[in-house]
Amino acid sequence: MVAAGALISGTGTNLQAIIERIAAGRLDCLLRLVVSNRAGAPGLARAEAAGIPTRVIDHRSFARREDFDRAVVAALREAGVELVVLAGFDRLITPVFLEAFPLRIMNIHPGLLPSFKGLDAQRQAFDYGVKIAGATVHFVDQDVDHGPIIVQGAVPIGPGDSAEEVRRCILAVEHEIYPLAIQLFAEGRLAVEGRRVIVRGSRPALPPPLIHW
Ligand code: GRF
Repeated sequence: MVAAGALISGTGTNLQAIIERIAAGRLDCLLRLVVSNRAGAPGLARAEAAGIPTRVIDHRSFARREDFDRAVVAALREAGVELVVLAGFDRLITPVFLEAFPLRIMNIHPGLLPSFKGLDAQRQAFDYGVKIAGATVHFVDQDVDHGPIIVQGAVPIGPGDSAEEVRRCILAVEHEIYPLAIQLFAEGRLAVEGRRVIVRGSRPALPPPLIHW
């Protein structure tokens, strides 16, 4: 069982997927705290409905990024959090935060990293014309959308798919791979060797290669 804290800024559908997986008894995680930097984030209501403590820590109340991070770290520590899950959190984090939770912060990105870093990765992939898009769960390091990759999920793009359809399919994959990555962490199966995350123990057979045009 891992004690986790989630950081959100918005809708919180990934948070919802994690909450539901825990409620279904399929994710060995206790969500001890949900922090939002935005008071109006709809994800806060999702946490409250699940009985999870919430805190709003508004980044605009702090002169420096480091001061904001110190306040967030203090709240997470007070709640006894071991693993930090960034779920649609729209702030860059500083070394203050990274050093408080080394290799204990995960993020989800709606692209197959290292392609399409940054904002609106789904649209970037669609406009680029890739045939296979996807999403990535990774440990957070000092660079944006960069740390060691834990799980990726692929989404084939059909000829008639709209950008919105691609976005929807990527989000559905996100909702599968984030709980999976947290479960692997909870089971103590993730070993980081340089950039590579080695998943220890038994795993499903490799799927056939996904070929798409
Ligand atoms: C997701 O697309 C995630 O990959 C990105 O921010 C979005 C958050 O969506 N980091 P939600 O708030 O979980 O619905």
